[in-house]
Amino acid sequence: MRIAYVNGSYIDNALASVHIEDRGYQFSDGIYEYIAFYNGLLLDGDLHFKRLERSLRELEIGMPVVPSALRVIVRELIERNGREEGGLYIQVTRGVSPRNHIYPKNVRPSLVMTVCGAKTPKQSEFENGVKIMSCHDNRWERRDIKSISLLPNIMAKQEAGRQKMREALFIETDGTVNEGSASNFFMVTKAGVVTTHPADNDILPGISRDVLIKLATKAGIAVDERKFDIAEAKAAPEAFITSTSINVLPVVKIDDKLIGKGVVGEITMKLQELYNSHIYKQTGKKF
Ligand SMILES: Cc1ncc(COP(=O)(O)O)c(C=O)c1O
Repeated sequence: MRIAYVNGSYIDNALASVHIEDRGYQFSDGIYEYIAFYNGLLLDGDLHFKRLERSLRELEIGMPVVPSALRVIVRELIERNGREEGGLYIQVTRGVSPRNHIYPKNVRPSLVMTVCGAKTPKQSEFENGVKIMSCHDNRWERRDIKSISLLPNIMAKQEAGRQKMREALFIETDGTVNEGSASNFFMVTKAGVVTTHPADNDILPGISRDVLIKLATKAGIAVDERKFDIAEAKAAPEAFITSTSINVLPVVKIDDKLIGKGVVGEITMKLQELYNSHIYKQTGKKF
Protein backbone atom coordinates (compact mmCIF):
# COMPACT_ATOMS: atom_id res chain seq x y z
CA MET A 1 0.00 0.00 0.00
CA ARG A 2 1.24 3.54 -0.76
CA ILE A 3 1.58 5.59 2.38
CA ALA A 4 1.59 9.38 2.52
CA TYR A 5 2.68 11.66 5.33
CA VAL A 6 0.30 14.55 6.10
CA ASN A 7 0.96 16.93 8.98
CA GLY A 8 2.08 14.37 11.51
CA SER A 9 0.22 11.27 10.28
CA TYR A 10 1.22 8.37 8.06
CA ILE A 11 -1.87 7.37 6.12
CA ASP A 12 -3.11 5.42 3.11
CA ASN A 13 -2.23 7.57 0.09
CA ALA A 14 -5.74 7.11 -1.34
CA LEU A 15 -7.28 8.66 1.78
CA ALA A 16 -4.72 11.43 2.34
CA SER A 17 -6.17 14.94 2.11
CA VAL A 18 -5.55 18.56 3.03
CA HIS A 19 -7.89 21.30 4.21
CA ILE A 20 -9.68 23.28 1.47
CA GLU A 21 -8.34 26.48 3.02
CA ASP A 22 -4.76 25.34 2.80
CA ARG A 23 -2.94 28.19 1.07
CA GLY A 24 -1.22 25.72 -1.22
CA TYR A 25 -4.63 24.77 -2.58
CA GLN A 26 -5.95 28.35 -2.62
CA PHE A 27 -2.91 30.32 -3.86
CA SER A 28 -0.10 27.85 -4.77
CA ASP A 29 1.49 29.41 -1.70
CA GLY A 30 4.15 26.79 -1.14
CA ILE A 31 7.23 24.96 -2.33
CA TYR A 32 8.34 21.39 -3.01
CA GLU A 33 11.30 19.11 -3.52
CA TYR A 34 11.67 15.90 -5.48
CA ILE A 35 14.41 13.57 -4.28
CA ALA A 36 15.34 10.25 -5.90
CA PHE A 37 16.28 7.28 -3.75
CA TYR A 38 17.96 4.00 -4.66
CA ASN A 39 18.51 1.05 -2.31
CA GLY A 40 16.66 3.13 0.27
CA LEU A 41 19.31 5.89 0.11
CA LEU A 42 18.58 9.49 -0.89
CA LEU A 43 20.56 10.85 -3.82
CA ASP A 44 22.10 14.20 -2.86
CA GLY A 45 19.67 14.52 0.04
CA ASP A 46 21.65 17.28 1.77
CA LEU A 47 21.56 19.48 -1.34
CA HIS A 48 17.80 19.00 -1.72
CA PHE A 49 17.17 19.82 1.96
CA LYS A 50 19.31 22.93 1.60
CA ARG A 51 17.34 24.08 -1.46
CA LEU A 52 14.06 23.36 0.36
CA GLU A 53 15.13 25.58 3.25
CA ARG A 54 16.19 28.33 0.86
CA SER A 55 12.87 28.23 -1.04
CA LEU A 56 11.01 28.55 2.27
CA ARG A 57 13.21 31.45 3.42
CA GLU A 58 12.65 33.34 0.17
CA LEU A 59 8.86 33.09 0.71
CA GLU A 60 9.03 33.76 4.46
CA ILE A 61 7.45 30.40 5.23
CA GLY A 62 8.76 28.73 8.38
CA MET A 63 10.16 25.19 8.51
CA PRO A 64 7.21 22.89 9.34
CA VAL A 65 9.47 20.76 11.56
CA VAL A 66 13.14 21.05 12.52
CA PRO A 67 15.56 19.82 9.80
CA SER A 68 16.56 16.70 11.76
CA ALA A 69 12.89 15.72 12.18
CA LEU A 70 12.32 16.19 8.45
CA ARG A 71 14.98 13.58 7.76
CA VAL A 72 13.49 11.15 10.27
CA ILE A 73 10.06 11.46 8.63
CA VAL A 74 11.58 10.93 5.17
CA ARG A 75 13.35 7.75 6.29
CA GLU A 76 10.24 6.47 8.03
CA LEU A 77 8.02 7.17 5.01
CA ILE A 78 10.35 5.41 2.57
CA GLU A 79 10.47 2.42 4.91
CA ARG A 80 6.70 2.31 5.34
CA ASN A 81 6.26 2.35 1.56
CA GLY A 82 8.50 -0.69 1.30
CA ARG A 83 10.23 0.64 -1.78
CA GLU A 84 13.93 0.26 -2.42
CA GLU A 85 13.92 2.75 -5.24
CA GLY A 86 11.74 5.61 -6.32
CA GLY A 87 11.04 9.29 -5.79
CA LEU A 88 10.00 11.31 -2.78
CA TYR A 89 7.95 14.50 -2.97
CA ILE A 90 8.14 16.91 -0.05
CA GLN A 91 5.66 19.75 -0.16
CA VAL A 92 5.42 22.61 2.30
CA THR A 93 2.73 25.28 2.15
CA ARG A 94 2.20 28.37 4.28
CA GLY A 95 -0.64 26.57 6.07
CA VAL A 96 -4.39 26.72 6.59
CA SER A 97 -6.05 30.10 6.99
CA PRO A 98 -9.21 31.92 5.77
CA ARG A 99 -8.58 33.16 2.26
CA ASN A 100 -6.69 36.46 2.27
CA HIS A 101 -3.78 37.54 0.07
CA ILE A 102 -1.82 38.91 3.04
CA TYR A 103 0.35 36.31 4.77
CA PRO A 104 -1.49 35.13 7.91
CA LYS A 105 0.35 35.42 11.23
CA ASN A 106 1.10 32.46 13.51
CA VAL A 107 -0.07 29.85 11.05
CA ARG A 108 1.58 26.43 11.05
CA PRO A 109 3.09 25.44 7.68
CA SER A 110 1.61 22.26 6.19
CA LEU A 111 3.92 19.36 5.42
CA VAL A 112 2.98 16.63 2.97
CA MET A 113 5.20 13.86 1.64
CA THR A 114 4.48 11.17 -0.90
CA VAL A 115 6.53 8.38 -2.42
CA CYS A 116 6.27 7.18 -6.00
CA GLY A 117 8.00 4.85 -8.45
CA ALA A 118 11.22 5.96 -10.16
CA LYS A 119 10.66 8.13 -13.23
CA THR A 120 13.80 7.10 -15.07
CA PRO A 121 13.81 7.47 -18.87
CA LYS A 122 13.93 4.36 -21.05
CA GLN A 123 17.37 2.95 -21.79
CA SER A 124 16.80 3.74 -25.49
CA GLU A 125 16.32 7.42 -24.60
CA PHE A 126 19.65 7.49 -22.72
CA GLU A 127 21.35 5.82 -25.69
CA ASN A 128 19.69 7.56 -28.63
CA GLY A 129 18.75 10.92 -27.13
CA VAL A 130 15.43 12.76 -27.22
CA LYS A 131 13.72 15.52 -29.18
CA ILE A 132 12.61 18.70 -27.46
CA MET A 133 10.64 21.78 -28.54
CA SER A 134 11.27 25.43 -27.77
CA CYS A 135 8.55 27.70 -26.42
CA HIS A 136 8.20 31.16 -24.92
CA ASP A 137 9.07 31.41 -21.22
CA ASN A 138 5.94 32.94 -19.72
CA ARG A 139 6.75 32.27 -16.06
CA TRP A 140 7.27 34.71 -13.20
CA GLU A 141 10.62 36.28 -12.29
CA ARG A 142 11.48 34.06 -9.31
CA ARG A 143 12.11 30.77 -11.06
CA ASP A 144 14.93 30.10 -8.57
CA ILE A 145 12.26 29.21 -5.98
CA LYS A 146 10.95 25.66 -6.35
CA SER A 147 7.36 26.84 -6.12
CA ILE A 148 4.36 24.49 -6.43
CA SER A 149 2.91 27.03 -8.87
CA LEU A 150 3.67 25.13 -12.07
CA LEU A 151 0.94 26.11 -14.55
CA PRO A 152 3.28 27.45 -17.27
CA ASN A 153 5.50 24.36 -16.82
CA ILE A 154 2.67 21.86 -17.14
CA MET A 155 1.12 23.72 -20.10
CA ALA A 156 4.48 23.73 -21.89
CA LYS A 157 5.03 20.02 -21.15
CA GLN A 158 1.50 19.22 -22.31
CA GLU A 159 2.20 20.94 -25.64
CA ALA A 160 5.52 19.09 -25.93
CA GLY A 161 3.68 15.80 -25.39
CA ARG A 162 1.15 16.73 -28.07
CA GLN A 163 4.06 17.26 -30.46
CA LYS A 164 5.70 13.97 -29.39
CA MET A 165 8.62 15.87 -27.85
CA ARG A 166 10.25 14.80 -24.57
CA GLU A 167 10.60 18.29 -23.09
CA ALA A 168 9.71 21.96 -23.64
CA LEU A 169 12.59 24.42 -23.60
CA PHE A 170 11.79 27.86 -22.18
CA ILE A 171 13.11 30.77 -24.27
CA GLU A 172 13.07 34.49 -23.39
CA THR A 173 11.66 37.04 -25.85
CA ASP A 174 15.24 37.96 -26.83
CA GLY A 175 16.02 34.31 -27.63
CA THR A 176 17.92 33.45 -24.42
CA VAL A 177 17.61 29.78 -23.50
CA ASN A 178 16.58 29.41 -19.85
CA GLU A 179 15.79 25.79 -18.99
CA GLY A 180 13.33 22.99 -19.62
CA SER A 181 9.83 22.80 -18.10
CA ALA A 182 11.23 20.29 -15.58
CA SER A 183 14.95 20.18 -16.34
CA ASN A 184 18.07 22.29 -16.89
CA PHE A 185 19.51 22.63 -20.38
CA PHE A 186 23.16 22.36 -21.44
CA MET A 187 24.88 22.64 -24.79
CA VAL A 188 28.45 21.67 -25.64
CA THR A 189 30.13 24.21 -27.90
CA LYS A 190 32.38 23.39 -30.87
CA ALA A 191 35.33 24.15 -28.57
CA GLY A 192 34.06 21.44 -26.20
CA VAL A 193 32.86 23.79 -23.47
CA VAL A 194 29.88 22.52 -21.50
CA THR A 195 27.66 25.60 -21.35
CA THR A 196 24.53 26.36 -19.35
CA HIS A 197 22.52 29.35 -18.13
CA PRO A 198 23.92 30.92 -14.92
CA ALA A 199 22.11 30.06 -11.69
CA ASP A 200 20.21 33.33 -11.23
CA ASN A 201 16.51 34.16 -10.78
CA ASP A 202 15.69 33.06 -14.35
CA ILE A 203 16.13 29.34 -13.72
CA LEU A 204 15.77 26.75 -11.00
CA PRO A 205 19.22 25.90 -9.64
CA GLY A 206 18.87 22.18 -10.35
CA ILE A 207 20.66 19.84 -7.97
CA SER A 208 21.68 17.56 -10.85
CA ARG A 209 22.87 20.67 -12.74
CA ASP A 210 25.03 21.70 -9.80
CA VAL A 211 26.42 18.21 -9.21
CA LEU A 212 27.19 17.74 -12.90
CA ILE A 213 29.04 21.07 -13.15
CA LYS A 214 31.23 20.02 -10.21
CA LEU A 215 31.85 16.53 -11.63
CA ALA A 216 32.75 17.92 -15.06
CA THR A 217 35.08 20.55 -13.62
CA LYS A 218 36.80 17.95 -11.46
CA ALA A 219 37.28 15.74 -14.53
CA GLY A 220 38.98 18.62 -16.35
CA ILE A 221 36.06 19.35 -18.70
CA ALA A 222 35.58 23.08 -19.32
CA VAL A 223 32.29 24.49 -18.02
CA ASP A 224 30.86 27.94 -18.71
CA GLU A 225 27.79 29.36 -17.00
CA ARG A 226 26.63 32.08 -19.38
CA LYS A 227 23.57 33.16 -21.31
CA PHE A 228 23.20 32.01 -24.92
CA ASP A 229 20.38 32.10 -27.41
CA ILE A 230 18.36 29.42 -29.14
CA ALA A 231 20.22 29.89 -32.46
CA GLU A 232 23.52 29.06 -30.72
CA ALA A 233 21.94 26.08 -28.95
CA LYS A 234 20.60 24.70 -32.23
CA ALA A 235 24.01 25.13 -33.89
CA ALA A 236 25.83 23.36 -31.03
CA PRO A 237 27.30 19.92 -31.75
CA GLU A 238 25.88 18.43 -28.51
CA ALA A 239 23.11 19.17 -26.04
CA PHE A 240 21.46 17.49 -23.07
CA ILE A 241 19.06 18.10 -20.20
CA THR A 242 19.43 17.20 -16.53
CA SER A 243 17.14 16.60 -13.58
CA THR A 244 16.81 14.39 -10.55
CA SER A 245 14.57 11.98 -12.46
CA ILE A 246 16.19 11.99 -15.93
CA ASN A 247 19.88 12.21 -14.87
CA VAL A 248 21.83 13.31 -17.99
CA LEU A 249 19.52 12.89 -20.99
CA PRO A 250 20.99 13.64 -24.43
CA VAL A 251 19.08 15.97 -26.77
CA VAL A 252 19.43 15.17 -30.49
CA LYS A 253 16.83 17.51 -31.96
CA ILE A 254 15.41 20.92 -31.03
CA ASP A 255 12.27 21.79 -33.03
CA ASP A 256 13.19 20.86 -36.63
CA LYS A 257 16.95 21.17 -36.15
CA LEU A 258 19.17 18.13 -35.59
CA ILE A 259 21.84 18.69 -32.92
CA GLY A 260 25.20 17.80 -34.44
CA LYS A 261 24.69 14.64 -36.44
CA GLY A 262 21.58 13.75 -34.47
CA VAL A 263 23.36 11.20 -32.30
CA VAL A 264 24.58 11.34 -28.69
CA GLY A 265 27.83 13.33 -28.50
CA GLU A 266 31.10 12.16 -26.98
CA ILE A 267 31.26 14.74 -24.20
CA THR A 268 27.63 14.07 -23.32
CA MET A 269 28.44 10.37 -23.03
CA LYS A 270 31.38 11.15 -20.78
CA LEU A 271 29.13 13.31 -18.58
CA GLN A 272 26.53 10.52 -18.43
CA GLU A 273 29.29 8.19 -17.16
CA LEU A 274 30.43 10.72 -14.56
CA TYR A 275 26.90 11.30 -13.30
CA ASN A 276 26.05 7.59 -13.27
CA SER A 277 29.15 6.81 -11.23
CA HIS A 278 28.16 9.61 -8.82
CA ILE A 279 24.80 7.87 -8.32
CA TYR A 280 26.55 4.52 -7.91
CA LYS A 281 29.02 5.82 -5.33
CA GLN A 282 26.26 7.33 -3.21
CA THR A 283 23.55 4.69 -3.50
CA GLY A 284 24.94 1.57 -5.18
CA LYS A 285 22.49 1.96 -8.07
CA LYS A 286 23.88 1.18 -11.52
CA PHE A 287 22.60 2.98 -14.60
C1 LIG B 1 11.94 24.10 -13.89
C2 LIG B 1 12.95 23.08 -13.49
N1 LIG B 1 14.25 23.27 -13.79
C3 LIG B 1 15.19 22.37 -13.44
C4 LIG B 1 14.86 21.19 -12.78
C5 LIG B 1 15.95 20.22 -12.39
O1 LIG B 1 16.17 20.28 -11.01
P1 LIG B 1 16.82 19.06 -10.21
O2 LIG B 1 18.11 18.75 -10.89
O3 LIG B 1 17.01 19.59 -8.85
O4 LIG B 1 15.85 17.93 -10.29
C6 LIG B 1 13.53 20.96 -12.43
C7 LIG B 1 13.16 19.73 -11.72
O5 LIG B 1 12.03 19.47 -11.44
C8 LIG B 1 12.55 21.92 -12.78
O6 LIG B 1 11.26 21.74 -12.46
